Amino acid sequence: MPVTLVVGGQWGDEGKAKIVDLLARDADYVARYQGGANAGHTVVADGRRFAFHLVPSGILYPHVVCILGGGMVIDPVALACEIDGVVERGVDVRGRILVSEQAHVVFPYHVEMDRGMERRLGSSPIGTTGKGISPAYADKVSRRGVRMGDLLRPAAEIDALFSEKIRENNKHLKHLGLPAIPVKKTVETLRRSAARIQPLITDTRITVWSALENEKRVLCEGAQGSLLDIDHGTYPYVTSSSASVGGALAGVGIPPSSIDRVIGIFKAYCTRVGNGPFPTEEKGRVGEKLRELGGEYGTTTGRPRRCGWFDGVAGRTVIKLNGITEIALTKLDVLDSFDKIKMCTSYRCGKKRLDYFPTMVRELDRCKPDYEVLDGWRETSGGDGAKELPRAALAYVARLEEVVGCRIRIVSLGADRRAVIDRG
Ligand code: IMP
Repeated sequence: MPVTLVVGGQWGDEGKAKIVDLLARDADYVARYQGGANAGHTVVADGRRFAFHLVPSGILYPHVVCILGGGMVIDPVALACEIDGVVERGVDVRGRILVSEQAHVVFPYHVEMDRGMERRLGSSPIGTTGKGISPAYADKVSRRGVRMGDLLRPAAEIDALFSEKIRENNKHLKHLGLPAIPVKKTVETLRRSAARIQPLITDTRITVWSALENEKRVLCEGAQGSLLDIDHGTYPYVTSSSASVGGALAGVGIPPSSIDRVIGIFKAYCTRVGNGPFPTEEKGRVGEKLRELGGEYGTTTGRPRRCGWFDGVAGRTVIKLNGITEIALTKLDVLDSFDKIKMCTSYRCGKKRLDYFPTMVRELDRCKPDYEVLDGWRETSGGDGAKELPRAALAYVARLEEVVGCRIRIVSLGADRRAVIDRG
């Protein structure tokens, strides 16, 4: 049975979790493939709001097994705490959360370094979430990292490993003018969390391979978005993982031939947190209105998100990059009260017209969007069947499909599970 892959089409916060939750109803496994607690995945189920950071968004369905894949970076203390929070709210997670041995550990010194490095960038920081993501991935690629599988070693060895890593990294922290991490106290805290997580750690590749052999349905859940991808995003204003489809293959350990659906999640407009280019950003009243109507404040950091019109150039590029087979368009209802709605269809860069998103930030900075102006509508409704969308909203959806070159299958009209139209 093939794999369905869910990938963010913009700069994250597209509403992936809501769509994963919707699709998880028919899945057996949901596997996160990259990122860490920088993600904030919100699901509203029966009026109850859940915000997940590390745990996959399929956890609310009792039949689904959730996998934290090998491409992730995991803070064991944050994970233990998040699992406790989910359990406290009545979700039975027994036997339903597995953690890859290959995932890397985020230590408190990674968090200190992340925040310290941002401070050193002065007036032009990346605007990270401060969760230690970049230093943890840096350790991974420099072959100095600790993996979740290392937490399966005997207690004395784990203590020695943690102490050694903290001491070694305290030297780096000192060099950066940052406070040292207290060794004994931190080792104790980590040991407690590690003990909690140990039973969940396994070779999740084998779990997934055997699921596929047994015709089980696997859903891969991306975090962040393709425009934040370390290779394909607005480098250096990106996250440190592969947030596009490539990350899913490596991060879960599946072959490309196992994937038959790639669902790109796009908001009906654009948002971005943190710094970096955003060609269709609206800095004035339109941006503020989108932010207020869309509740555009970060789930992880609470930061206000930058807002702007839908960017068809970025969208078209992301469709090609990921081989997206269908789109889930979220938050269309947020556009309900605009008389006119703009959609970017190409960029002007000096005398050049660009149809694809440039790879270099210095070129992007010079790009000006070409807009089409479409009629607004007054009210969308979240029932079944696309016919319930007002005519102007349907025209917006149809034009967006044309501009990016991909069909919109799902339209989401609000946070609740039921506020969705499946256009089949
Ligand atoms: P980091 O992933 O914390 O290193 O942050 C790098 C960039 O990615 C910053 O611009 C963050 O705001 C952005 N980012 C990271 N995670 C998310 C997310 O889940 N949603 C939106 N933006 C994110």
